[in-house]
Parts: sequence; structure tokens; C-alpha cells
Amino acid sequence: MKKIKLHKGKKHSICSCEMSKSLPFCDNTHRTYNEKNQTNYKSVKIIAQDTVIIDINSSTWK
Ligand code: FES
Repeated sequence: MKKIKLHKGKKHSICSCEMSKSLPFCDNTHRTYNEKNQTNYKSVKIIAQDTVIIDINSSTWK
């Protein structure tokens, strides 16, 4: 479980592939991996309506 702050009106990209060096945020590493491995990983986009702190987790994160 990771605790992150989302800022009002800002788009946040959350990693769904586990390869980002900036977990839980996407650093676009998935793009290179997709090209080499014919996969289709994408980040999850969140636009916060208010500035909030949330707990977030993914089954792909170690
Ligand atoms: S690096 Fe994991 S989804 Fe972008």
C-alpha cells in the first residue's frame, strides 16, 4: 500500500505494470516494454476533484 497526494485538477498517471522507477507513478517504462514484448500495458489516469491524500495499491507492485 502506498500513500500519495493527488492535487486538485491535475492528471496523475498511476503505473499498472510494476516496471516504473517512480512507483506508484508511471514513468513511461511500459512503452519500451510494450514495443519489445508486444504487450499493451497502460497507466491508469486519475484527475482529482480536490487535493487529497489516498492509499493506493496494485497486485502487480511488489
Ligand atoms: S511505467 Fe508502468 S504503466 Fe507506465
